[in-house]
Amino acid sequence: MEEKFIDAVVFDLDGVITDSAHYHFLAWRELARELGISINEVFNERLKGVSRMDSLELILQEGNLQNDFTLSEKATMAEKKNLHYCEFLKKLTPQDIMPGILELITNIKIEGISIGLASVSRNASTVLKALKLEDTFDYVVDAAKVKKSKPDPEIFLTACKQLDANPKRTIGIEDASAGIDSIKASEMFAVGVGNTLNKADYKVHSTKELQWELIKAEYKKWIER
Ligand code: BG6
Ligand code: MG
Repeated sequence: MEEKFIDAVVFDLDGVITDSAHYHFLAWRELARELGISINEVFNERLKGVSRMDSLELILQEGNLQNDFTLSEKATMAEKKNLHYCEFLKKLTPQDIMPGILELITNIKIEGISIGLASVSRNASTVLKALKLEDTFDYVVDAAKVKKSKPDPEIFLTACKQLDANPKRTIGIEDASAGIDSIKASEMFAVGVGNTLNKADYKVHSTKELQWELIKAEYKKWIER
């Protein structure tokens, strides 16, 4: 039997498993609009993978309003955005799993490789339940289990530890620049889904292109480099 050379694969949730990254954007854009701040999809790249409160700070900075509100006012704004985001989540079904993801998960599991999920979202379990994926991952790290948001490596290192995986033999899949930085700071192999993730070890344009044989081939090249 071929020796197993990958311990685990750890997925990001928002923007990789499902397109909830877009719902985050719509909810933030509405809150920003109410504050007189205009944000677009390019700015939104900076919010991906970043915690709720850190995202709010980035938006306030964009409008030069970072010193204009108390902590309690900021908490109220973040809650308002979250209520709006949760309205979108009510419509989420298993049909909203991104193309190629279920096939990829099946192919990884066939080889007996563990899969984990690393999301800084406090809504991660709601999203997983809506997609009927709550029993799919061997371990889920969400906002409740870590202190630091991506790009800090804490979240991916926690996933590796709980999966009993060596980070250097583990693959992370991300759609966010902060997420790729977190994977690389963990010394893992980084797969980036999107067009702006230059630091990824292997890049694809969409989840449809996430083919297990190709990912393994790229990982093998990286490990033997
Ligand atoms: C990340 C998203 O997964 O979760 C970010 O990429 C989001 O856009 C963050 O801000 C926090 O999510 P939530 O659901 O806790 O507000
Ligand atoms: Mg993401």
